[in-house]
Amino acid sequence: MGPVLIIGNRGMLGQAMCNEASARAVSWGGLDLPEFDLTDEQAVCRAIEPGCEVVINCAAYTDVDGAGSNEAQAELINATAAGMLARRVREIGAKLVHYSTDYVFDGTARTPYPTDHPRQPLGAYGRTKAKGEQLLEQSGVDMLLIRTSWLYAAWGKNFVRTIAKLASERDSIRVVNDQRGRPTSAIHLARLTFELLGRGAGGCYHGTDGGECTWYEFASEIVTHLGLGCSVEPCLTAEFPRPEPRPAYSVLDLSRTEECIGPMPHWTENLAVVLDDLKVSIA
Ligand SMILES: NC(=O)c1ccc[n+]([C@@H]2O[C@H](COP(=O)([O-])OP(=O)(O)OC[C@H]3O[C@@H](n4cnc5c(N)ncnc54)[C@H](OP(=O)(O)O)[C@@H]3O)[C@@H](O)[C@H]2O)c1
Repeated sequence: MGPVLIIGNRGMLGQAMCNEASARAVSWGGLDLPEFDLTDEQAVCRAIEPGCEVVINCAAYTDVDGAGSNEAQAELINATAAGMLARRVREIGAKLVHYSTDYVFDGTARTPYPTDHPRQPLGAYGRTKAKGEQLLEQSGVDMLLIRTSWLYAAWGKNFVRTIAKLASERDSIRVVNDQRGRPTSAIHLARLTFELLGRGAGGCYHGTDGGECTWYEFASEIVTHLGLGCSVEPCLTAEFPRPEPRPAYSVLDLSRTEECIGPMPHWTENLAVVLDDLKVSIA
């Protein structure tokens, strides 16, 4: 594979993409704030020049509750800038990899959401990401759009690190047990992105760990694996109201991805790898 340009390379997924590119001996360049602003059209045109073959966009406005109080800013990054990037990538004849979210769905389903299920976001973050998807489609760019969910890594701001910290400080924690989804290791997502690219995949795919769970089950596995003596208690979403709604069910159907690159490892397997890294960084 020729050189790839990774936008948002210092974010949680961005770091995993850089590591994966290096491990595959793919040469890569990274762009992120503050030196590079995806919402600046001139900067985008300067950075993305003919000769570049694959642009991987890991940059986004990812604060779900923040998007509720600042939807204009979230829309600027997740939709307007993504659409502008797509037009530029099309202009130079390259391929665009872009990430979206389970939050584009309303969470009322009881079976996994297929890639072509109608978008019906519940809140501001999902609306901005859904609009970004639409603008990519309308741009006509050669794209690989990957929806993911419940992303975690041994770095960055995420549920796994939050639970590991809380459980090491407290005797007990309460975690919601009425939202069901699929955790996703950023390392796994980076790997599957390169595998899909290697197979020439285009269009919309879902990329998560295998299996499914509630946040309570996810937290229990984290605490058990780390050997922490903290008790994890299940509770209801209604007991922990948040500014923005969360889908009750957001399991993404993986069949299209698995047909292309094989089965996704179970989330407990991917989690174990990340928790072992986390133990090393805590020690
Ligand atoms: N995290 C999840 O649970 C989750 C779930 C589903 C889907 N996703 C999607 O997965 C992708 C990666 O998410 P992530 O959690 O890795 O995100 P992240 O850790 O928040 O990283 C995003 C990166 O983008 C940068 N960025 C933000 N605005 C920018 C701009 N205007 N110009 C250039 N760079 C900018 C951020 O810089 P600053 O830190 O300086 O702002 C950060 O380095 C996103 O598309 C997200 O929507 C994430």
